Amino acid sequence: MPFLQRSKAICPWKFSASRRCLIVLILQVSFLVLFGLIHLLFLSRTSPRSSTSPLLSVKPKFSARSPPLCPGLQVSEHKFPKIPLKSLRQNISLPQNDVSSDLRRRNALPPRNLDLFPYLSADHMVIVLYVHNRPAYLKVAVHGLSQVEGISEALLIVSHDGYFPEMNAIIEGIRFCQVKQIFAPFSPHIFPDAFPGITPGDCEKAESRNCKGDPDQYGHYRSPHIVSLKHHWWWMMNTVWDGLPEIRNYDGHILFVEEDHFLFPNALRNIEALSALKACKCPECYMANLAPADVNFKGERINALVADKIGNVGYAFNRTIWRKIHSYAEQFCSFDDYNWDISMWVVVYPEWGSTSYSLRGPRRSAQHFGKCGLHQGQKQGQPPCFDEGGQLPPVEEEDKIYNLDSNWIVRYSTVQGYDRGFKGWGGWGDSRDRNLCLDFASMYHVGVTI
Ligand SMILES: *[C@@H]1O[C@H](CO)[C@@H](O)[C@H](O)[C@H]1NC(C)=O
Ligand SMILES: *[C@@H]1O[C@H](CO)[C@@H](O)[C@H](O)[C@H]1NC(C)=O
Repeated sequence: MPFLQRSKAICPWKFSASRRCLIVLILQVSFLVLFGLIHLLFLSRTSPRSSTSPLLSVKPKFSARSPPLCPGLQVSEHKFPKIPLKSLRQNISLPQNDVSSDLRRRNALPPRNLDLFPYLSADHMVIVLYVHNRPAYLKVAVHGLSQVEGISEALLIVSHDGYFPEMNAIIEGIRFCQVKQIFAPFSPHIFPDAFPGITPGDCEKAESRNCKGDPDQYGHYRSPHIVSLKHHWWWMMNTVWDGLPEIRNYDGHILFVEEDHFLFPNALRNIEALSALKACKCPECYMANLAPADVNFKGERINALVADKIGNVGYAFNRTIWRKIHSYAEQFCSFDDYNWDISMWVVVYPEWGSTSYSLRGPRRSAQHFGKCGLHQGQKQGQPPCFDEGGQLPPVEEEDKIYNLDSNWIVRYSTVQGYDRGFKGWGGWGDSRDRNLCLDFASMYHVGVTI
Protein backbone atom coordinates (compact mmCIF):
# COMPACT_ATOMS: atom_id res chain seq x y z
CA MET A 1 0.00 0.00 0.00
CA PRO A 2 1.42 3.32 -0.99
CA PHE A 3 0.11 5.00 2.17
CA LEU A 4 1.99 2.59 4.38
CA GLN A 5 5.08 2.87 2.30
CA ARG A 6 5.00 6.59 2.59
CA SER A 7 4.42 6.54 6.33
CA LYS A 8 7.33 4.15 6.57
CA ALA A 9 9.47 6.68 4.85
CA ILE A 10 8.30 9.42 7.19
CA CYS A 11 8.49 7.33 10.38
CA PRO A 12 11.85 6.21 11.54
CA TRP A 13 10.34 3.34 13.59
CA LYS A 14 10.48 -0.38 12.82
CA PHE A 15 6.77 -1.25 12.65
CA SER A 16 5.29 0.60 9.73
CA ALA A 17 1.57 1.11 10.42
CA SER A 18 1.80 1.53 14.16
CA ARG A 19 -0.40 3.99 16.01
CA ARG A 20 2.52 6.08 17.06
CA CYS A 21 3.48 6.53 13.52
CA LEU A 22 -0.03 7.54 12.49
CA ILE A 23 -0.13 10.17 15.20
CA VAL A 24 3.16 11.59 14.05
CA LEU A 25 1.85 11.62 10.50
CA ILE A 26 -1.32 13.44 11.54
CA LEU A 27 0.77 15.95 13.47
CA GLN A 28 2.94 16.54 10.44
CA VAL A 29 -0.06 17.03 8.16
CA SER A 30 -1.79 19.44 10.52
CA PHE A 31 1.42 21.41 10.89
CA LEU A 32 1.58 21.76 7.13
CA VAL A 33 -2.07 22.90 6.96
CA LEU A 34 -1.51 25.43 9.73
CA PHE A 35 1.60 26.73 8.00
CA GLY A 36 -0.34 27.09 4.77
CA LEU A 37 -3.09 29.07 6.50
CA ILE A 38 -0.64 31.47 8.10
CA HIS A 39 1.04 31.91 4.76
CA LEU A 40 -2.28 32.72 3.08
CA LEU A 41 -3.10 35.22 5.79
CA PHE A 42 0.17 37.03 5.19
CA LEU A 43 -0.32 37.04 1.44
CA SER A 44 -3.71 38.71 1.76
CA ARG A 45 -2.18 41.36 3.98
CA THR A 46 0.45 42.25 1.41
CA SER A 47 -2.26 43.06 -1.11
CA PRO A 48 -1.61 46.33 -2.98
CA ARG A 49 -3.24 48.87 -0.68
CA SER A 50 -2.05 47.53 2.64
CA SER A 51 0.90 49.41 3.93
CA THR A 52 1.40 48.54 7.54
CA SER A 53 3.15 45.41 8.74
CA PRO A 54 6.90 45.91 8.90
CA LEU A 55 7.24 42.10 8.85
CA LEU A 56 6.25 42.13 5.22
CA SER A 57 8.83 44.53 3.95
CA VAL A 58 9.42 43.38 0.39
CA LYS A 59 13.05 43.29 -0.59
CA PRO A 60 13.34 45.65 -3.50
CA LYS A 61 14.01 43.78 -6.70
CA PHE A 62 14.65 46.54 -9.14
CA SER A 63 13.22 46.73 -12.56
CA ALA A 64 12.16 49.57 -14.80
CA ARG A 65 9.48 47.35 -16.24
CA SER A 66 7.52 45.11 -13.93
CA PRO A 67 6.18 46.13 -10.53
CA PRO A 68 7.71 43.52 -8.20
CA LEU A 69 7.16 45.91 -5.33
CA CYS A 70 3.42 45.64 -5.87
CA PRO A 71 2.60 42.09 -4.86
CA GLY A 72 -0.54 40.76 -6.46
CA LEU A 73 -0.69 43.40 -9.19
CA GLN A 74 -1.16 41.88 -12.61
CA VAL A 75 0.73 43.57 -15.42
CA SER A 76 -1.05 43.07 -18.67
CA GLU A 77 1.04 42.76 -21.79
CA HIS A 78 0.63 46.15 -23.37
CA LYS A 79 0.36 46.47 -27.10
CA PHE A 80 0.65 49.95 -28.48
CA PRO A 81 -1.50 50.29 -31.59
CA LYS A 82 -0.33 52.40 -34.50
CA ILE A 83 -1.39 56.04 -34.36
CA PRO A 84 -4.25 56.52 -36.87
CA LEU A 85 -3.06 58.08 -40.11
CA LYS A 86 -5.78 60.70 -40.18
CA SER A 87 -4.39 62.29 -37.02
CA LEU A 88 -0.98 62.67 -38.66
CA ARG A 89 0.33 65.31 -41.04
CA GLN A 90 1.32 63.92 -44.40
CA ASN A 91 2.74 67.14 -45.82
CA ILE A 92 5.54 67.63 -43.33
CA SER A 93 8.45 69.77 -44.44
CA LEU A 94 11.55 69.62 -42.29
CA PRO A 95 14.29 72.25 -42.57
CA GLN A 96 17.54 70.94 -44.03
CA ASN A 97 21.11 72.03 -44.67
CA ASP A 98 24.53 70.37 -44.61
CA VAL A 99 24.92 70.53 -40.85
CA SER A 100 21.48 69.08 -40.18
CA SER A 101 22.11 66.24 -42.65
CA ASP A 102 25.38 65.50 -40.91
CA LEU A 103 23.69 65.46 -37.49
CA ARG A 104 21.02 63.09 -38.77
CA ARG A 105 23.77 60.73 -39.93
CA ARG A 106 25.28 60.85 -36.44
CA ASN A 107 21.90 60.13 -34.88
CA ALA A 108 21.80 56.80 -36.64
CA LEU A 109 25.09 55.64 -35.09
CA PRO A 110 24.95 52.87 -32.48
CA PRO A 111 25.51 53.70 -28.80
CA ARG A 112 29.05 54.37 -27.57
CA ASN A 113 30.91 52.04 -25.18
CA LEU A 114 29.47 48.84 -26.61
CA ASP A 115 32.95 47.37 -26.13
CA LEU A 116 32.74 48.00 -22.38
CA PHE A 117 29.03 47.22 -21.91
CA PRO A 118 28.01 44.91 -24.73
CA TYR A 119 24.69 43.81 -23.23
CA LEU A 120 21.79 45.46 -21.47
CA SER A 121 19.52 43.34 -19.31
CA ALA A 122 15.87 43.00 -20.35
CA ASP A 123 14.71 45.29 -17.56
CA HIS A 124 17.42 47.95 -17.84
CA MET A 125 16.61 51.55 -17.11
CA VAL A 126 16.87 54.29 -19.74
CA ILE A 127 18.01 57.79 -18.75
CA VAL A 128 17.68 60.72 -21.12
CA LEU A 129 19.94 63.69 -20.40
CA TYR A 130 18.96 66.68 -22.52
CA VAL A 131 21.49 69.42 -22.85
CA HIS A 132 21.91 72.85 -24.41
CA ASN A 133 25.22 74.68 -24.10
CA ARG A 134 26.47 75.04 -20.54
CA PRO A 135 29.65 72.91 -20.35
CA ALA A 136 30.49 73.84 -16.74
CA TYR A 137 27.10 72.53 -15.66
CA LEU A 138 27.28 69.45 -17.81
CA LYS A 139 30.58 68.41 -16.20
CA VAL A 140 28.90 68.47 -12.79
CA ALA A 141 25.87 66.55 -14.05
CA VAL A 142 28.06 63.88 -15.68
CA HIS A 143 30.16 63.52 -12.54
CA GLY A 144 26.95 62.97 -10.57
CA LEU A 145 25.80 60.34 -13.06
CA SER A 146 29.11 58.51 -12.84
CA GLN A 147 28.52 57.96 -9.11
CA VAL A 148 24.98 56.63 -9.45
CA GLU A 149 24.57 53.06 -8.24
CA GLY A 150 23.56 50.80 -11.12
CA ILE A 151 24.53 53.29 -13.84
CA SER A 152 26.60 50.66 -15.68
CA GLU A 153 23.39 48.67 -16.28
CA ALA A 154 21.53 51.62 -17.78
CA LEU A 155 21.33 53.07 -21.26
CA LEU A 156 22.12 56.79 -21.21
CA ILE A 157 20.70 58.81 -24.09
CA VAL A 158 22.10 62.31 -24.45
CA SER A 159 19.99 64.68 -26.51
CA HIS A 160 21.92 67.74 -27.65
CA ASP A 161 20.11 70.91 -28.68
CA GLY A 162 22.09 71.20 -31.89
CA TYR A 163 25.86 70.84 -31.97
CA PHE A 164 28.35 72.42 -29.56
CA PRO A 165 31.89 70.91 -29.70
CA GLU A 166 32.65 71.43 -26.00
CA MET A 167 29.41 69.71 -24.95
CA ASN A 168 30.08 66.88 -27.36
CA ALA A 169 33.60 66.36 -25.97
CA ILE A 170 32.28 65.95 -22.42
CA ILE A 171 29.81 63.28 -23.52
CA GLU A 172 32.40 61.50 -25.65
CA GLY A 173 34.51 61.20 -22.50
CA ILE A 174 31.91 59.09 -20.66
CA ARG A 175 33.06 55.52 -19.96
CA PHE A 176 30.66 54.38 -17.24
CA CYS A 177 27.75 53.08 -19.33
CA GLN A 178 26.34 52.74 -22.83
CA VAL A 179 25.75 56.19 -24.31
CA LYS A 180 23.52 56.96 -27.26
CA GLN A 181 24.00 60.51 -28.52
CA ILE A 182 21.37 62.33 -30.52
CA PHE A 183 21.58 65.87 -31.90
CA ALA A 184 18.46 67.92 -32.65
CA PRO A 185 19.07 68.59 -36.37
CA PHE A 186 16.41 71.31 -36.57
CA SER A 187 17.76 73.42 -33.75
CA PRO A 188 17.64 77.15 -34.65
CA HIS A 189 21.39 77.71 -34.21
CA ILE A 190 22.08 75.11 -36.93
CA PHE A 191 20.37 77.51 -39.37
CA PRO A 192 22.16 80.88 -39.25
CA ASP A 193 20.09 82.52 -41.98
CA ALA A 194 16.97 80.45 -42.45
CA PHE A 195 14.07 79.15 -40.43
CA PRO A 196 14.13 77.87 -37.63
CA GLY A 197 17.03 80.32 -37.23
CA ILE A 198 16.74 84.01 -38.10
CA THR A 199 15.22 84.57 -41.51
CA PRO A 200 15.55 87.79 -43.50
CA GLY A 201 12.44 89.81 -42.62
CA ASP A 202 12.17 88.44 -39.08
CA CYS A 203 12.09 90.99 -36.32
CA GLU A 204 11.93 90.58 -32.58
CA LYS A 205 10.49 93.95 -31.59
CA ALA A 206 6.76 94.49 -31.38
CA GLU A 207 7.03 98.01 -32.81
CA SER A 208 8.88 97.00 -35.96
CA ARG A 209 7.03 97.21 -39.23
CA ASN A 210 6.83 94.87 -42.17
CA CYS A 211 7.77 91.91 -40.06
CA LYS A 212 7.56 88.42 -41.41
CA GLY A 213 5.64 85.87 -39.40
CA ASP A 214 2.94 86.15 -36.76
CA PRO A 215 3.29 88.03 -33.48
CA ASP A 216 2.35 86.32 -30.21
CA GLN A 217 -0.59 87.44 -28.06
CA TYR A 218 1.57 90.26 -26.62
CA GLY A 219 2.62 91.56 -30.03
CA HIS A 220 6.14 90.05 -30.07
CA TYR A 221 7.55 88.32 -33.08
CA ARG A 222 9.38 85.02 -32.84
CA SER A 223 12.86 84.88 -31.38
CA PRO A 224 14.88 81.76 -32.34
CA HIS A 225 16.73 81.42 -29.04
CA ILE A 226 13.47 81.67 -27.11
CA VAL A 227 11.63 79.00 -29.11
CA SER A 228 14.65 76.69 -29.18
CA LEU A 229 13.93 75.01 -25.83
CA LYS A 230 10.36 73.99 -26.49
CA HIS A 231 11.37 72.72 -29.94
CA HIS A 232 14.23 70.67 -28.52
CA TRP A 233 12.13 69.14 -25.76
CA TRP A 234 9.38 68.14 -28.18
CA TRP A 235 11.79 66.86 -30.83
CA MET A 236 13.63 64.88 -28.15
CA MET A 237 10.44 63.30 -26.73
CA ASN A 238 9.22 62.26 -30.17
CA THR A 239 12.63 60.99 -31.19
CA VAL A 240 13.29 59.01 -28.03
CA TRP A 241 9.89 57.30 -27.89
CA ASP A 242 9.06 56.93 -31.56
CA GLY A 243 12.27 57.37 -33.56
CA LEU A 244 15.06 55.45 -31.85
CA PRO A 245 15.39 51.79 -32.79
CA GLU A 246 17.01 51.21 -29.37
CA ILE A 247 13.76 52.18 -27.63
CA ARG A 248 11.15 50.84 -30.05
CA ASN A 249 10.42 47.74 -28.00
CA TYR A 250 11.16 49.24 -24.63
CA ASP A 251 8.10 49.37 -22.40
CA GLY A 252 9.61 50.49 -19.11
CA HIS A 253 10.02 53.96 -17.66
CA ILE A 254 12.43 56.54 -19.03
CA LEU A 255 14.01 59.02 -16.65
CA PHE A 256 14.54 62.56 -17.98
CA VAL A 257 17.16 64.93 -16.59
CA GLU A 258 18.78 68.19 -17.72
CA GLU A 259 22.34 69.47 -17.78
CA ASP A 260 21.84 71.38 -14.51
CA HIS A 261 20.39 68.44 -12.59
CA PHE A 262 22.64 66.55 -10.22
CA LEU A 263 21.68 62.96 -9.44
CA PHE A 264 22.50 61.49 -6.04
CA PRO A 265 23.98 57.97 -5.97
CA ASN A 266 20.62 56.45 -4.97
CA ALA A 267 18.73 58.11 -7.85
CA LEU A 268 18.41 55.07 -10.09
CA ARG A 269 17.42 52.65 -7.32
CA ASN A 270 14.84 55.12 -6.04
CA ILE A 271 13.32 55.95 -9.42
CA GLU A 272 13.07 52.27 -10.30
CA ALA A 273 11.20 51.61 -7.07
CA LEU A 274 8.95 54.66 -7.48
CA SER A 275 8.13 53.70 -11.07
CA ALA A 276 7.11 50.25 -9.88
CA LEU A 277 5.28 51.42 -6.77
CA LYS A 278 3.13 54.07 -8.41
CA ALA A 279 1.05 51.42 -10.17
CA CYS A 280 -0.27 50.04 -6.90
CA LYS A 281 0.31 52.85 -4.43
CA CYS A 282 -0.93 55.80 -6.46
CA PRO A 283 -3.10 55.07 -9.50
CA GLU A 284 -3.53 58.85 -9.98
CA CYS A 285 0.23 59.26 -10.44
CA TYR A 286 1.19 59.45 -14.09
CA MET A 287 4.86 59.92 -13.41
CA ALA A 288 7.53 59.40 -10.80
CA ASN A 289 9.87 62.18 -9.69
CA LEU A 290 13.28 62.31 -8.04
CA ALA A 291 12.69 65.75 -6.55
CA PRO A 292 9.78 67.99 -5.54
CA ALA A 293 8.38 70.34 -8.16
CA ASP A 294 9.63 73.23 -6.02
CA VAL A 295 13.32 73.02 -6.89
CA ASN A 296 14.44 74.64 -3.63
CA PHE A 297 12.59 72.17 -1.42
CA LYS A 298 14.60 69.21 -0.14
CA GLY A 299 11.56 67.15 0.80
CA GLU A 300 9.50 66.54 3.95
CA ARG A 301 11.85 63.84 5.31
CA ILE A 302 8.90 61.89 6.72
CA ASN A 303 8.20 58.17 6.51
CA ALA A 304 5.79 58.36 3.60
CA LEU A 305 5.76 58.60 -0.15
CA VAL A 306 4.42 61.83 -1.60
CA ALA A 307 2.01 62.35 -4.49
CA ASP A 308 2.90 65.80 -5.73
CA LYS A 309 2.75 68.11 -8.71
CA ILE A 310 4.71 66.74 -11.68
CA GLY A 311 8.15 68.30 -11.37
CA ASN A 312 10.88 69.11 -13.89
CA VAL A 313 13.84 67.63 -12.08
CA GLY A 314 14.25 63.91 -12.74
CA TYR A 315 10.84 62.79 -13.98
CA ALA A 316 10.08 59.33 -15.33
CA PHE A 317 7.15 57.93 -17.25
CA ASN A 318 6.32 55.06 -19.59
CA ARG A 319 5.03 54.67 -23.12
CA THR A 320 1.37 54.68 -22.05
CA ILE A 321 1.87 58.18 -20.72
CA TRP A 322 3.90 59.21 -23.76
CA ARG A 323 1.00 58.19 -25.98
CA LYS A 324 -1.29 60.27 -23.82
CA ILE A 325 1.02 63.27 -24.21
CA HIS A 326 1.42 62.71 -27.92
CA SER A 327 -2.34 62.72 -28.48
CA TYR A 328 -2.35 66.34 -27.26
CA ALA A 329 0.26 67.47 -29.80
CA GLU A 330 -2.20 69.94 -31.33
CA GLN A 331 -2.81 71.65 -27.96
CA PHE A 332 0.87 71.59 -27.00
CA CYS A 333 2.02 72.99 -30.32
CA SER A 334 -0.55 75.77 -30.57
CA PHE A 335 -0.37 77.05 -26.98
CA ASP A 336 1.21 80.49 -26.94
CA ASP A 337 3.89 79.84 -24.34
CA TYR A 338 7.55 79.18 -25.10
CA ASN A 339 7.96 77.00 -21.98
CA TRP A 340 7.38 73.28 -22.58
CA ASP A 341 6.61 72.63 -18.93
CA ILE A 342 4.03 75.39 -18.58
CA SER A 343 2.47 74.24 -21.86
CA MET A 344 2.13 70.74 -20.38
CA TRP A 345 0.62 72.00 -17.12
CA VAL A 346 -1.90 74.27 -18.79
CA VAL A 347 -3.11 72.42 -21.89
CA VAL A 348 -2.08 68.77 -21.55
CA TYR A 349 -2.29 67.43 -17.97
CA PRO A 350 -5.65 69.08 -17.14
CA GLU A 351 -7.18 67.18 -20.08
CA TRP A 352 -6.43 63.87 -18.40
CA GLY A 353 -9.21 64.17 -15.84
CA SER A 354 -8.57 64.66 -12.14
CA THR A 355 -5.34 66.08 -10.75
CA SER A 356 -2.22 64.68 -12.37
CA TYR A 357 0.20 63.58 -9.71
CA SER A 358 3.73 62.34 -9.68
CA LEU A 359 5.03 59.94 -7.02
CA ARG A 360 8.22 60.86 -5.20
CA GLY A 361 10.13 60.06 -2.05
CA PRO A 362 10.19 62.27 1.06
CA ARG A 363 13.82 63.20 0.37
CA ARG A 364 15.11 64.34 -2.97
CA SER A 365 17.48 62.16 -5.01
CA ALA A 366 18.19 64.84 -7.58
CA GLN A 367 18.99 68.49 -7.29
CA HIS A 368 18.74 71.44 -9.60
CA PHE A 369 22.06 73.27 -9.20
CA GLY A 370 22.29 75.87 -11.96
CA LYS A 371 21.97 79.50 -10.91
CA CYS A 372 21.45 80.72 -14.45
CA GLY A 373 18.35 79.68 -16.30
CA LEU A 374 18.76 79.17 -20.01
CA HIS A 375 17.22 82.52 -20.77
CA GLN A 376 18.60 84.62 -17.95
CA GLY A 377 21.98 84.93 -19.58
CA GLN A 378 20.43 86.22 -22.73
CA LYS A 379 17.99 88.92 -21.62
CA GLN A 380 18.46 92.10 -23.53
CA GLY A 381 19.66 95.15 -21.66
CA GLN A 382 20.60 93.18 -18.53
CA PRO A 383 24.01 91.97 -17.40
CA PRO A 384 24.50 88.32 -18.34
CA CYS A 385 23.96 85.80 -15.56
CA PHE A 386 27.36 84.53 -14.49
CA ASP A 387 27.95 81.30 -12.64
CA GLU A 388 31.03 79.15 -12.95
CA GLY A 389 29.09 76.01 -12.20
CA GLY A 390 32.00 73.90 -11.01
CA GLN A 391 30.91 73.19 -7.41
CA LEU A 392 29.44 69.78 -6.63
CA PRO A 393 26.27 69.72 -4.55
CA PRO A 394 26.91 68.06 -1.16
CA VAL A 395 25.91 64.39 -0.94
CA GLU A 396 24.93 63.05 2.49
CA GLU A 397 25.20 59.41 3.56
CA GLU A 398 21.48 58.88 3.18
CA ASP A 399 21.63 59.99 -0.43
CA LYS A 400 23.98 57.15 -1.25
CA ILE A 401 21.61 54.28 -0.50
CA TYR A 402 18.12 53.23 -1.49
CA ASN A 403 16.04 55.09 1.09
CA LEU A 404 12.40 54.31 0.35
CA ASP A 405 10.12 51.74 1.96
CA SER A 406 7.47 49.96 -0.07
CA ASN A 407 5.27 49.81 3.04
CA TRP A 408 4.99 53.55 3.38
CA ILE A 409 1.63 55.17 2.79
CA VAL A 410 1.18 57.86 0.15
CA ARG A 411 0.57 61.41 1.25
CA TYR A 412 -1.16 63.69 -1.24
CA SER A 413 0.08 67.27 -1.60
CA THR A 414 -2.04 70.11 -2.79
CA VAL A 415 -1.10 70.71 -6.39
CA GLN A 416 -0.83 74.37 -7.24
CA GLY A 417 0.21 75.88 -10.49
CA TYR A 418 -1.10 77.33 -13.65
CA ASP A 419 -4.83 77.09 -14.24
CA ARG A 420 -6.48 75.57 -17.24
CA GLY A 421 -7.52 79.03 -18.41
CA PHE A 422 -4.02 80.57 -18.27
CA LYS A 423 -3.25 82.21 -21.62
CA GLY A 424 0.49 81.56 -21.61
CA TRP A 425 3.58 83.76 -21.45
CA GLY A 426 3.76 84.18 -25.20
CA GLY A 427 6.80 83.75 -27.42
CA TRP A 428 5.07 80.99 -29.40
CA GLY A 429 2.80 82.83 -31.80
CA ASP A 430 4.44 82.17 -35.15
CA SER A 431 2.65 79.59 -37.29
CA ARG A 432 6.02 78.38 -38.60
CA ASP A 433 7.00 77.27 -35.09
CA ARG A 434 3.61 75.68 -34.53
CA ASN A 435 3.84 73.77 -37.81
CA LEU A 436 7.37 72.56 -37.12
CA CYS A 437 6.20 71.36 -33.73
CA LEU A 438 3.31 69.44 -35.34
CA ASP A 439 5.71 68.02 -37.91
CA PHE A 440 7.87 66.62 -35.09
CA ALA A 441 4.82 64.80 -33.75
CA SER A 442 4.07 63.20 -37.11
CA MET A 443 7.43 62.62 -38.74
CA TYR A 444 8.32 59.19 -37.34
CA HIS A 445 4.83 57.89 -38.11
CA VAL A 446 4.83 58.87 -41.77
CA GLY A 447 8.16 57.42 -42.83
CA VAL A 448 10.87 59.79 -41.56
CA THR A 449 13.68 57.88 -39.93
CA ILE A 450 16.00 59.14 -37.25
C1 LIG B 1 -0.35 70.62 -44.17
O1 LIG B 1 -1.70 70.24 -44.26
C2 LIG B 1 -2.54 70.82 -43.27
C3 LIG B 1 -3.91 70.23 -43.45
O2 LIG B 1 -3.85 68.85 -43.68
C4 LIG B 1 -2.54 72.31 -43.41
O3 LIG B 1 -3.36 72.89 -42.42
C5 LIG B 1 -1.14 72.83 -43.27
O4 LIG B 1 -1.09 74.21 -43.50
C6 LIG B 1 -0.22 72.11 -44.26
N1 LIG B 1 1.15 72.49 -43.94
C7 LIG B 1 2.06 72.75 -44.84
C8 LIG B 1 3.41 73.09 -44.30
O5 LIG B 1 1.84 72.73 -46.02
C1 LIG C 1 2.41 53.22 -17.43
O1 LIG C 1 2.12 53.99 -16.27
C2 LIG C 1 0.75 54.23 -16.09
C3 LIG C 1 0.64 55.17 -14.89
O2 LIG C 1 1.28 54.64 -13.78
C4 LIG C 1 0.01 52.93 -15.91
O3 LIG C 1 -1.36 53.20 -15.76
C5 LIG C 1 0.24 52.05 -17.13
O4 LIG C 1 -0.35 50.79 -16.97
C6 LIG C 1 1.73 51.87 -17.38
N1 LIG C 1 1.96 51.22 -18.66
C7 LIG C 1 2.71 50.13 -18.80
C8 LIG C 1 2.91 49.66 -20.18
O5 LIG C 1 3.22 49.56 -17.86
